[in-house]
Amino acid sequence: MGEGVWAAPGRVNLIGEHTDYNDGFAMPFALPHTVVAAAARRDDGVLRLRSADAPGGPVELRVSGLAPGAGPGGWSDYPAGVVWALRETVRGAVGGVDISFTSTVPMGAGLSSSAALEVVTALALNDLYELGLERRRLARLCQRAENVYAGAPTGIMDQTASACCTAGHALHLDTRDLSQRQIPFDPAAHGLALLAVDTRVRHALSDGAYGERRAGCAAGAAALEVEALRDVPYEGLDEELARLADEEIRRLVRHVVTENRRVEQVVAHLRAGDVRAVGPLLSEGHASLRDDFRVSCPELDLVVETALGAGALGARMTGGGFGGSAVVLAEAEGPAGVEVQTAVLTEAFAAAGLAAPRIFSAQPSGGAARLS
Ligand code: GLA
Repeated sequence: MGEGVWAAPGRVNLIGEHTDYNDGFAMPFALPHTVVAAAARRDDGVLRLRSADAPGGPVELRVSGLAPGAGPGGWSDYPAGVVWALRETVRGAVGGVDISFTSTVPMGAGLSSSAALEVVTALALNDLYELGLERRRLARLCQRAENVYAGAPTGIMDQTASACCTAGHALHLDTRDLSQRQIPFDPAAHGLALLAVDTRVRHALSDGAYGERRAGCAAGAAALEVEALRDVPYEGLDEELARLADEEIRRLVRHVVTENRRVEQVVAHLRAGDVRAVGPLLSEGHASLRDDFRVSCPELDLVVETALGAGALGARMTGGGFGGSAVVLAEAEGPAGVEVQTAVLTEAFAAAGLAAPRIFSAQPSGGAARLS
């Protein structure tokens, strides 16, 4: 079959932030918002990409000429990078393709719109060219496209979330080997809601700072003589920290080690059916990202403080930081419920002279799929 339609979702991460490039644990779930790709094989070796959401006409590239740095830059680098990465892996088995994208994943909101674009492309090509690659392999290829072709040094969480999540679950992901467990997560069944709050800000610093944090973590692992910070045990953390001369690195290490532990604790609570107990761990995670890892920003802190002040069970930034989105675990109804949370957050942003945040209830949804 030479054509079809595929969809891949954006994500929020419940807990486990800045752990994925430390071989650690994360717990994302898929959003109902997706990038949809209508794709068809072409036999002339041309990659033709169109997006209903991007200004300008289609981008046309010769598949055989794809190379890092050779693309026009912008949104098309993500799907073009995937085709490049697939060709590198399967040696010429991928030819031309025509793809039209439409997206409901908010862009620039830290909800992984670019990972969704990559994963939907990978899935379409995998089917159209009958490559038979399994999803974890596709996620790795997408990460390679993002790192090498699009030049963003991100980890593997976002692409794995988009490719592997299932409805009604959060994905307990071990980023060392991509082993994973689907953990039932249904806040509504407990009278709760998980709100995503897009601050609508993105601070310019985010790209450089991400790379700096990543390099700092690698330096910490080297100083402690472990393969990755995942290998630093929580028990005995103080002794390990005392071995580090550099205060900055000490803080990065403390965040990663305590965050990995929080993931395990969240999993234990969810397995025990105690969704409410997750709340304080989310807030602890935020404090660690704000004070130790230092990737929060005033707007994200405002969401967390305001939500907790209005009776939320927990709140934290989600994703890379420096803007983007936060998650809030709140009562579904009542004096600390979703309606009240939405109103107080909107008011707080207005009082701070900020544009209204975009707030929605995030239901754990399905991962990437073929639609037709
Ligand atoms: C971004 C990256 C991910 C991950 C998060 C932080 O979303 O794309 O790989 O590192 O930041 O947890």
